[in-house]
Amino acid sequence: MSILKELEKDIIQLIEKAGYHTDKLYLEESNRKDLGEYQLNDAMQLVKTYHKNPREIASDIVAVLEQDSRFQNINIAGPGFINFSFSEEYIYEILNKMNDDIFSNIDKKEKKKIIIDYGGANVAKALHVGHLRSANIGEALKRLSRAMGYETLGDAHLGDYGRPLGFVVLEIMKRYKNLPFFDENYTGNYEEIDLPITNEELEKLYPIASEKAKQDPEYLEEGRLVTSKIQNHERGYYDLWKKVVEISKKDIKNVYDTLNTEFDLWLGESDAEVYIPELQRIYEEKQLLVDSEGAKIIEISKEEDTSPMPPLLFIKSNGTISYETTDLATILQRKKEFNPDEIWYVVDGRQSLHFEQTFRAARLGQLVEDNVVLEHIDFGTMNGKDGKPFKTRDGGVMTLKNLIELVTNETRKKISTEVTEEEKEEISTTVAVAALKYADLLPYRSTDYVFEIEKFSSLEGKTGPYILYSTIRMKSLLNKVETEERKIRKLKGKSEREIALLLLSLQKVMEKSIETKSLNEIAEYLYKLTSSYNTFYGENRILTEVDEELKTSWITLTQIVYNTNMLLLDILGIKVPKKM
Ligand code: ARG
Repeated sequence: MSILKELEKDIIQLIEKAGYHTDKLYLEESNRKDLGEYQLNDAMQLVKTYHKNPREIASDIVAVLEQDSRFQNINIAGPGFINFSFSEEYIYEILNKMNDDIFSNIDKKEKKKIIIDYGGANVAKALHVGHLRSANIGEALKRLSRAMGYETLGDAHLGDYGRPLGFVVLEIMKRYKNLPFFDENYTGNYEEIDLPITNEELEKLYPIASEKAKQDPEYLEEGRLVTSKIQNHERGYYDLWKKVVEISKKDIKNVYDTLNTEFDLWLGESDAEVYIPELQRIYEEKQLLVDSEGAKIIEISKEEDTSPMPPLLFIKSNGTISYETTDLATILQRKKEFNPDEIWYVVDGRQSLHFEQTFRAARLGQLVEDNVVLEHIDFGTMNGKDGKPFKTRDGGVMTLKNLIELVTNETRKKISTEVTEEEKEEISTTVAVAALKYADLLPYRSTDYVFEIEKFSSLEGKTGPYILYSTIRMKSLLNKVETEERKIRKLKGKSEREIALLLLSLQKVMEKSIETKSLNEIAEYLYKLTSSYNTFYGENRILTEVDEELKTSWITLTQIVYNTNMLLLDILGIKVPKKM
């Protein structure tokens, strides 16, 4: 059990001892530390049950608190707020428990299986800025939910299906006339064939093809035909498509690697394809599929809707399936293959209608039990200074690779350690990714924010590089001393207490983060803890301290803050370089 939970449990018992029963504790860290470090507001709540003056209840509670050596400076303020501080010994206890194991001081949640759908890269298209937040937030939520005890699977859910791919394949066929896939002697062994196309070329094809399709109806028709041939697994077409997916996937994996984003599942939209016939049967049996102008639709509006809800387009009039239908098939697939309790979709807020439609139809079709949670975890956009989604200088779409490069050019200037050129490159990239990720996770997820390269990569302020730099400095201090037993027995200043109180509140921060499914609390906390530590570090000469007991305690404190930072940075998916 976390120290905080233990403390809360004990206070509930003390209140019981004072003659009052409560199930919920109104215990908060105080923002008036001169009155007390914590504030207990239960007396006011108990008035309803006990019909007594709150000050009277408060003084009964204070009387028992005074018997407990953990509390000191206990006083009543206003109508019955109880303020108190912790004794020196209890502060050491908090710290020593944290030193034993931070992880076990985070309470675990009930067992639950969660699939997180994030990343959402599209085959044969470059990952762009829009994909950044899904990767960052999704990866961090995956790590956070695991730390909280859930069983979580991350799925990349590749966009590897549908018309864009048909056009890319068509464009390749037009450019490379003698591809073996369409040869009479083609054996179907696509793995042995080397497609002479790089990923860079591949990424250029779709914009060209889609432009052509807009101008030329014949080309559009050809593209449609190719798409349906791929979807019907026609030899040659299907294999060429697989080859394209293979080339593209390799590159997508590289970008995700740089971002320290790892998926457990690399399934794509196309993997749900086999579930389409069954899906269609489900909706037909329930008589939910309606013919409409050559298409098949599902009515999903509800009486209580205050604005019109368009029907879900299940099969388009040209016979192809929609993005919504692909997601429905994926729900069916996930149900059958993994049987999750919850599915979280970490996707741009601009897709909220899509998910509303999909979830409603999934409920109508009863694809999962009613208690299975389907949740769209939306996020806002990263904007440029003009308030519009961040673009390249000439107004084009900023690819993720370019963005990382841009930030790396900035962080490179800040690396002061003596290393080889190669190492320097690696460190600069790691710091750049930290800068990007931290800035991305710091605002509450559904708020938009402005990309500010100098600010994000600065070594000062609420930034990834500041936290990395400070954490590395803690490590180098720890490396300089050999102490056998790391324990806290003596402290002296205000800043050490502040650190202890922050550590006590870690449990609350984690709870809040998983509740809101946003990382802003953790990102803020990391900054607070780091800067409190830096204040303490600036006030004391740790290495030259002559009082051995004090020195050991300070080193131990450093160790705890270092471990906490490492744990939380790992949850945010941020790597820490050895030096910088
Ligand atoms: N590939 C999609 C896009 O780029 C995102 C996929 C999100 N996940 C989902 N299950 N629809 O917009």
